[in-house]
Amino acid sequence: MAKVTSEDVGTFCQHYPKIAAIVTAQSGGKSNAMTVDWHTSLSLSPPLYGICVVPGRFTYQLIIDSKEFGINFLSFEAVELVHLVGSTGGRYIDKFQRFNIALDQPVKTRVPILKAAYAAYECQLVDDRDYGDHRLLVGEIVAAHWQPEAFTPEETLDLDKVSPVLYLGGELYLTPSKDTVRHLEHMAY
Ligand SMILES: Cc1cc2nc3c(=O)[nH]c(=O)nc-3n(C[C@H](O)[C@H](O)[C@H](O)COP(=O)(O)O)c2cc1C
Repeated sequence: MAKVTSEDVGTFCQHYPKIAAIVTAQSGGKSNAMTVDWHTSLSLSPPLYGICVVPGRFTYQLIIDSKEFGINFLSFEAVELVHLVGSTGGRYIDKFQRFNIALDQPVKTRVPILKAAYAAYECQLVDDRDYGDHRLLVGEIVAAHWQPEAFTPEETLDLDKVSPVLYLGGELYLTPSKDTVRHLEHMAY
């Protein structure tokens, strides 16, 4: 295995691929969207979701002003949109108009919800913490949206219906193949 020390880890994307999702926010009559691949669930009770955002992003400002954000999960048909939203600045363009993004109504917040999303969470900001060049924004999920037909009765994503967007690093994206899904029985050791 190649090895480097902490001064030289570069962009350390050896642990990719990761789901690429679209974070949304609005404040003072301005709405915006950005792509994130640094995001994670943090707690089930209360339901907490974390996103890592560079503080210079326009979206960061809108989240701090409104104390809300949305996170939208899209299928691979929308991969170009995911890339475009993550390559353009909302200070200069209205991404919803420019990329013709259809919106759905939020139920507990004012964050934009993408109609094309197979799932989306509305989050109320509960923490904003400095971690080097990114900030960890933690939101409590106050509403969840999902397309029931995209999920199996066991509540996992149905890969026959939806192919999620995975990000490999650089400018590379992929989607998992359903042929690779294996069901492993829970084993007691
Ligand atoms: C696939 C992908 C993943 C990204 N992940 C993140 C991320 O996790 N955090 C972040 O701050 N920026 C991330 N970005 C960059 C932002 O999406 C990008 O800078 C965007 O233009 C910011 O938009 P805004 O200034 O309108 O908020 C990502 C971009 C791409 C294409």
